[in-house]
Amino acid sequence: MTVLEALNWASDYLREQGIENPRLNAELLLASSMQISREGLYICLQDPLMEDKRERLEGLVLRRGSGEPLQYILGHQEFWSIKLKVDPRVLIPRPETEHLVEEALSILTNISSKKIPTVLELGTGSGAIAIALAREVEKISMVATDLSEEALRVAKENSKEAGVAPKIQFVRGDLLHPFCRREIFDLILSNPPYLSVADLRGLAREVKDHEPMIAIDGGEDGLDFYRKLIDQVPSYLKREGWLLLEVGSSQAGHVSEMIEAEGFFQKPQRVKDLSGIERVVKAQRRE
Ligand SMILES: C[S@@+](CC[C@H](N)C(=O)[O-])C[C@H]1O[C@@H](n2cnc3c(N)ncnc32)[C@H](O)[C@@H]1O
Repeated sequence: MTVLEALNWASDYLREQGIENPRLNAELLLASSMQISREGLYICLQDPLMEDKRERLEGLVLRRGSGEPLQYILGHQEFWSIKLKVDPRVLIPRPETEHLVEEALSILTNISSKKIPTVLELGTGSGAIAIALAREVEKISMVATDLSEEALRVAKENSKEAGVAPKIQFVRGDLLHPFCRREIFDLILSNPPYLSVADLRGLAREVKDHEPMIAIDGGEDGLDFYRKLIDQVPSYLKREGWLLLEVGSSQAGHVSEMIEAEGFFQKPQRVKDLSGIERVVKAQRRE
């Protein structure tokens, strides 16, 4: 079997299994089993595929065909141009979460011109957000938490690989419970679990059967995490400190109302992505 024949077989099989972009998936899986780059495939299409590589490819293609996410099979995902290790212990970071990083950076640019900002990320998963911020802000005091010990192991590995381990303190715990001191953070941010029971029912099998439920399940209406967080967060923010939250596609209004009702913040702002969907809600603590 040549490399081209293997590629065609993998692509046809994935198409039959209903996988989106079967050709791209097949190319990435074949490149991974041959331990070469995707571009490298095109200079050896007529070469014979070695037996051990063919067997490896078959294994990877069967996993993908059964619905396992490509990123878990390949073992990595790019976020903010950083290659992060991912596996079923953590949510695969999504491109839309880069909006949260952008908003955080615009707040931190202001603060870091005067002092070293203290930042808390709740629910760090693979560490994507905390690592991106630690990469971008030269002097930062960053704490990242998660309820999942297993996720924190992945985040720590990723922070070492990205060269920012000394800049991030990882803490296991439920929301703000690990912290006993008050008014310590300039910025608290999170991309929390925010899917409702109805959302969970309609999920693609890639997500439903493979990504950690703890990372996506936001309770009956998807807003459980926001309720608890907005209740706990004010006393941990410094005066004029910021709260920054990623929200699901129809949640910005509800989350803004919760923040306003808390009475501790100035009027929340809702930030849209390029397709006009409100992705981030941000609010500054009053004096
Ligand atoms: C939507 S994922 C976000 C992961 C990562 N920050 C990202 O954006 O890719 C939510 C994360 O929150 C964590 N989590 C869920 N409940 C939590 C809680 N009560 N306290 C702290 N972390 C929690 C999950 O384990 C998961 O890693």
